[in-house]
Order: sequence, then C-alpha cells, then structure tokens
Amino acid sequence: MVKVNDNYLKLPGSYLFSTIGKKVAAFSTEHPDKKIIRLGIGDVTQPLAPAIITALHGAVDEMADAATFHGYAPDLGYEFLRNAIAKNDYQDRGCDIAADEIFVSDGAKCDSSNIQEIFSLDNKIAVCDPVYPVYVDSNVMAGRTGTWDPKTETWSDVIYMPCTAENDFAPELPKETPDLIYLCFPNNPTGSTITKDQLQVWIDYANKVGAIIIYDAAYEAYISEENVPHSIYECEGARTCAIELRSFSKNAGFTGVRLGFTVIPKELKAGETNLHPLWARRHGTKYNGAPYIVQRAGEAVYSPEGKVQLKEQVAYYMNNAKVIYEGLKSAGYTVSGGVNAPYIWLKTPDKMTSWEFFDYLLEKANVVGTPGSGFGPSGEGYFRLTAFGSYDNTVEAIERMKAL
Ligand SMILES: Cc1ncc(COP(=O)(O)O)c(C=O)c1O
Repeated sequence: MVKVNDNYLKLPGSYLFSTIGKKVAAFSTEHPDKKIIRLGIGDVTQPLAPAIITALHGAVDEMADAATFHGYAPDLGYEFLRNAIAKNDYQDRGCDIAADEIFVSDGAKCDSSNIQEIFSLDNKIAVCDPVYPVYVDSNVMAGRTGTWDPKTETWSDVIYMPCTAENDFAPELPKETPDLIYLCFPNNPTGSTITKDQLQVWIDYANKVGAIIIYDAAYEAYISEENVPHSIYECEGARTCAIELRSFSKNAGFTGVRLGFTVIPKELKAGETNLHPLWARRHGTKYNGAPYIVQRAGEAVYSPEGKVQLKEQVAYYMNNAKVIYEGLKSAGYTVSGGVNAPYIWLKTPDKMTSWEFFDYLLEKANVVGTPGSGFGPSGEGYFRLTAFGSYDNTVEAIERMKAL
C-alpha cells in the first residue's frame, strides 16, 4: 500500500504565516469596519520600477514573433543574466565569482529549501534561533532533524544558535560541530547584521571543521553601513566553504515575478566531492529554468536606470524602517534592526508573550506584525515589524501603537 513521506507528519502546527492569516481573517470578519494595517509578512508593496516594466514589455513582444521567441531557458540561466550578476554583484565588489558559478532560479525560498538535497541525511545542521523557518522545515521534510520536543520547541538533531539581545543578535560558534551552517545576514527576522570581521570568523571555523555555510543574502540591498559585507565572498577563504543564496524579491520587488540565484564556487567540496556538478545535475533534472521574460527583467535590475530606480525603492522602504524604529523607541519600546534591514525587532512590553502581543496589537491598534516565537524559541518575547508597507500606512500604524 502506498505510504506518505511521514517526515511531513512530524511538522508541528501550521506554517507561521497561515496561522497569522487565519487570525487576521477571523478578526476582520468580526470587525468589518476596522482598517487593518499589515506590517507582518515580508512582502513588498511598491510597483515594479519603470526600467523593469520596460524590459518585461520588450521581452513579451519578443515572444510574439517566431524570430525572437524563446522556449525552454537554459537550466542554469541565460548568459546575459549570469554575466550581469557576476559583474555587478561580485566582480565589482572585488569578489572572485564567475558567471558559470551562478545558478539562476525562481527565488531564494526554493533554493534555500532545495539545497539540502545534495547533502547526506547524516549531516547535522546548525541554525540561528530565531530563524527563517524554511531552513528548518525543509530539513524536517527530508528527515534530517530527529524528533520534535513540543516543550522546548526544538528538534533533537538540530544545533540552535541563540541570537538575543545578550549577543547583539549575532550567533556564536556552536559547541557541537555542525556539517551545514545556515546564516542569513542582514537577518530575517531580527534585522541584525554582522561585520566582515565577524563573518570571517565563521569562514575560518567552517574551513577548519569541514563544514559548509549556506549564506542567505536576500536582504543585501538594504545594507547601509560600511563594514557590513554584501556577499560572503568578500571574505578570505569563502570559496572553499560557502554557498550563497540571493533573491530579486526584496531589492527589486520580484516577490510576485520570481527570480533568484545560488552561487556555488567550482572548488567547493564536501569531503572529496565537488558540489558544483551536483547542484548542476539537480537543477538540470528537477528545474526547467526561470522564464526568459523574467530573466530579461532581472537583467534590467543591473541597467543604469534600473540601479537608480531601485536605490530609490530601497530608500523608500528604509525610510519606513526609520519611522518604525524611531517612533517605537520614542514610545519606550526596546527596538533593534531597521538600519541594514527592512525588519524591526522589538521586545514585547510588560513581559507579554509574542502571541499575546500579536493579539493585543491586532485588537487594540488593528496592526498586524509577526510573533517572534514563530521563528524559534529564542524569538519568544520579541515581535517583528516590516518596513515593506506604504509610507502612509506605516506612519498610521506607528501613531496607533504610540497611542496605546
Ligand atoms: C531570509 C529569506 N530568504 C529567502 C526568502 C525568499 O525569497 P524569494 O522570494 O526569492 O523566494 C525570504 C523571504 O521572505 C527571506 O526572508
């Protein structure tokens, strides 16, 4: 008789954002007159920049003519996009990354959940706590995480690296040696970052113990401080221990368009085995390439007009971050993040749990945020607000919170 992959049955509860969605839907059914402001999910709200729209239109027109029509895209991405990424995101920053080390995909969520497939189930993963839930859940589905302890809300075979106010939301090297280390900077959910020197410590450690770092740089466009690395390959020795994931979702508003990429340097090995051909094989077998139209839109991100327009878009969201950060600080909240990331991480007042504060804020201010505990046990007592709303809604939400 057919059997399911029972690792799926081990997943506790529903996905964080579906729980939030259900709570918000119930509240709005009960209170149809209330204007709810959503600063919860990390989805963008600004329209695509004009340079991207022009590229999309141009590519659509090409598809209407047999002479310029495009069918299946190359598995690993079109050369024009891989070259633009290699030059702008890496070589111009002094990083030694070539176009053929870039694998274009439909986004960093898929890549961050799929990448574990090329590693043995025996590998032990280490994650920051709190963490972007996809890293852990994808390993649960694969059967790599052991058993779930509902009391501590942790998996027996996962190494958790707490990131709290005590360590400035930066993980410390784990006591137990991991095989795969997931790092995300600028961080979702805490909005924290680490300096180049701090990241260098991780690279030296990974090279020493033979671990691989999976470095999620989805929010690199939001970095405003000088000493914060945009790519892990800015550090010495990263080519032999790191995979980098990037997304066009947050730097260019592609959450609904879908585009991202993974970088695997040619010399990166697990034991004696090169990982580049493994991921190429995985990509070729299971993925048929991001759409031509979307890859042309991605190319426009690197055009001179695209760069100017997207810088303005990021500045728009970061102005919201400032409104949230300064507004809440002046109201007496303990806040962090929001300087190199579009996320503000606040301590819940009056020792409320994260979910208590969620309910309180929804009910009293009709503002939706994300409970910190949904990202891991060390997120308990914290709450995430995002800067991705409209300016007017952000200002109104903060005014309502200040009035509580
Ligand atoms: C850390 C992190 N990685 C990846 C993603 C997903 O990126 P994409 O839209 O490219 O799938 C998100 C989205 O919120 C994220 O926060």
